[in-house]
Amino acid sequence: MCGITGYIGYREAYPIIINGLKRLEYRGYDSAGVMLYDGNNINLSKTKGKVSHLQENVKHEISDKGTLGIGHTRWATHGIPNDVNSHPHVSQSGNLVIVHNGIIENYDAIKQELISRGYTFHSDTDTEVLINLIEEIKGQEKVKLGKAVQIALNQVIGAYAIAVFDKTKPDEIVVARLGSPIAIGVGKDLKEFFIASDASPFIEYTKDAVYLEDEELAIIKMGREVKVRKINDDSFVDLKIQELQMNLEQIEKGGYEHFMLKEIYEQPRAITDTFRGRLLANEGIIKISGLENNMKKFLNAERIIIVACGTSWHAGLVAEYTFEEFARIPVEVEYASEFRYRNPVITEKDVVIAISQSGETADTLAAIKLARSKGAFVFGVCNVVGSSIARENDSGAYTHAGPEIGVASTKAFTTQITLLTLIALRLARAKGTMTSADFRLYLQEMELIPNKVEQLLKIDDHIKAIAKKYLLSTNCLYLGRGYNFPVALEGALKLKEISYIHAEGYPAAEMKHGPIALIDDRMPVIVIATSKGHYEKVVSNIQEIKSRSGKIIAVVTEGDTTVRDLADHVIEIPETEEALSPLLTTIPLQLLSYHIAVMRGCNVDQPRNLAKSVTVE
Ligand code: AGP
Repeated sequence: MCGITGYIGYREAYPIIINGLKRLEYRGYDSAGVMLYDGNNINLSKTKGKVSHLQENVKHEISDKGTLGIGHTRWATHGIPNDVNSHPHVSQSGNLVIVHNGIIENYDAIKQELISRGYTFHSDTDTEVLINLIEEIKGQEKVKLGKAVQIALNQVIGAYAIAVFDKTKPDEIVVARLGSPIAIGVGKDLKEFFIASDASPFIEYTKDAVYLEDEELAIIKMGREVKVRKINDDSFVDLKIQELQMNLEQIEKGGYEHFMLKEIYEQPRAITDTFRGRLLANEGIIKISGLENNMKKFLNAERIIIVACGTSWHAGLVAEYTFEEFARIPVEVEYASEFRYRNPVITEKDVVIAISQSGETADTLAAIKLARSKGAFVFGVCNVVGSSIARENDSGAYTHAGPEIGVASTKAFTTQITLLTLIALRLARAKGTMTSADFRLYLQEMELIPNKVEQLLKIDDHIKAIAKKYLLSTNCLYLGRGYNFPVALEGALKLKEISYIHAEGYPAAEMKHGPIALIDDRMPVIVIATSKGHYEKVVSNIQEIKSRSGKIIAVVTEGDTTVRDLADHVIEIPETEEALSPLLTTIPLQLLSYHIAVMRGCNVDQPRNLAKSVTVE
């Protein structure tokens, strides 16, 4: 998820673009760039680092003059964050310039074709491939920019929001969208237009905005109404100008009160993006290039050791269950901070999976270095492209959650589980430890997860009402079995880190070995009782709590009746396979902790004593 901006009008474009990029930095902040057209020349500056770094560069590198420009702040997906992979990207002739937010999945095939036609590439990005494809089509078909962009977009697979400029046609900018947002700010009397990933960059200039829908393309030209067309059939689309109601702060949070809530609500999209190009349920295929290229290492592994910290460690614990059940590979899950000093027995027959959202967690980085020094193969599961951990691994795969700003990890957790489950399923297929019928069942069920999360988000008010009853609690217990034991741990961590209520997660059966002593009528106990997860056993655990007057908040599968009669509060989740249920059961626990923390007046996005990335040990 990157941020793109653009301007065409009568004002100086540079200040508008730079301020816009700063407002979009929550979308991505590993590199930035700007292109300005001063009536004769294209002036372009781009660099690794934050927008403030770009500003420094512009001062020394280029003229900042011109009333037309496009800009970009990056969240790397293809190609690590560095100057050459930063946007904007320029076509081979130097005439076409593009900024892009999204992922072109079939970029490599197109790149090979263009290379065979004499194109050379400077970066590792999918975006540079797209701008040269547009140039090739423009040249071959002898068409205008808008048409060339349309034809090119009908040849690519993936997601995009793009803004394209053509030096040979300097009075227009072409924008298009599929999957990634783009807004056009319409200036008074059509004398100026603003382009951005959301309205935050132009909210103070105009309240009139056009939000492109998926598969739409618009040609923006001074003094003329914006023309919107469908990309697939070139048909015209009626222009819908909306009046913006939001203020700036709200927009950055997308209208949500906190980044954490926004990120909870982004999970359907984040999980879908983590699927993208990897889960092909109709073809019954899972393909993850980092895994495919190292399949032998995994298939010959004597065991898999997962190293991580905090929430990522909980995702690793879920993966232990899936890898062992699906692929029958023994798994050990290690706290990286303990692993690095425990002098663990590691051999070259071990595969180590390192999980980290930020990719900068010091303990996890050290654990990787230790494992590699002992000959183990290290595979990373990271969210930040080009991060230290991503660079330290032998190979890996990225979760595509987009930037996670709230310190309490939410969408990174569910996308980590998504990716690790895809890997476990792929290994099961390769090892033949799962029937093709079961394999297809899981692929189809996984594809349904984003919608089921969407459904769950609709009962937010119900969860908020439950939260209200427990915001004065001083302690809380979370219980789960099997796949949902790690979810109980994660639920407890969320409540601890943002509401400062002491909470503990336990395997439900462990209760009798101690924690049950804590139970009385002031102790809320959150129990995960999904229909396919040791249900009867969990029901008896609930009866044990009830008989000691504990307050029971039960997460159950929709249609459950038994637990409903026992629990004080019930939160229903849609039915799914037990191995996939952590992707659903964790959502109400995120919302419960969020609402309790907000109602206790806590700083939910920046809780006390915590940092988003723990780069020290
Ligand atoms: C989770 O909400 C916390 N922010 C924290 O436990 C986090 O998961 C841990 O620090 C690991 O971070 P990483 O995934 O970036 O390595």
